[in-house]
Amino acid sequence: MPDAVIRPARRGDGPGLAAVWLDTGAYYAQLDPDRFQLPQAAGMAEWFEDHWLLASHDDHDRFMRVAELDGQIAGFVSASLEQPFETAQWQLLRYLAWRRLAVHALVVSTRYWRRGVGRQLLVAAEDWGRSGGATLIQLDTAIDSPVSVPFYERGMGYVRQSLVFRKRL
Ligand SMILES: CC(C)(COP(=O)(O)OP(=O)(O)OC[C@H]1O[C@@H](n2cnc3c(N)ncnc32)[C@H](O)[C@@H]1OP(=O)(O)O)[C@@H](O)C(=O)NCCC(=O)NCCS
Repeated sequence: MPDAVIRPARRGDGPGLAAVWLDTGAYYAQLDPDRFQLPQAAGMAEWFEDHWLLASHDDHDRFMRVAELDGQIAGFVSASLEQPFETAQWQLLRYLAWRRLAVHALVVSTRYWRRGVGRQLLVAAEDWGRSGGATLIQLDTAIDSPVSVPFYERGMGYVRQSLVFRKRL
């Protein structure tokens, strides 16, 4: 199976990025409709072009890469470098003294799952973070996701570090 091409996002990617996002939304909305929605398709391609792409080009602490496979956008990753807290010496969490990479989104279209695309994208983000001085990478995912939890834990060697609770009011 050929590897995906991992490249920076560029103008014109909006529709392909939106298709991946909609596909992911459809998957999670059927899995847990209380928490996830199928996002509105109208205006989404422009939203990616105007906000996501622009932010990743203008801000050197932002990282966005697209995976291209069979000439299609198969997935993307978005992350940013976070600086140490100025108050780190008084904090309880050690990592607040470190430069960290926060992953905001990592998505692969369902039809490309289990072809190594997620791994390629995440490794690209890890490498970029490392080269920018990050010593830790952190992200949130749905605790019961049948795809992302095994991907991070078994596939990529990530460990659980906290719980986010919720209660509807
Ligand atoms: C999670 C996600 C990014 C994984 O992408 P992917 O391209 O399918 O993952 P890869 O093919 O690179 O998988 C790498 C390894 O992770 C593990 N893995 C990935 N998906 C898995 C699954 N569904 N079940 C069990 N293990 C899995 C496997 O060890 C896999 O290696 P293998 O296929 O050689 O066994 C993809 O399922 C996805 O986009 N899901 C929806 C969005 C999402 O949940 N994103 C993460 C939230 S931040």
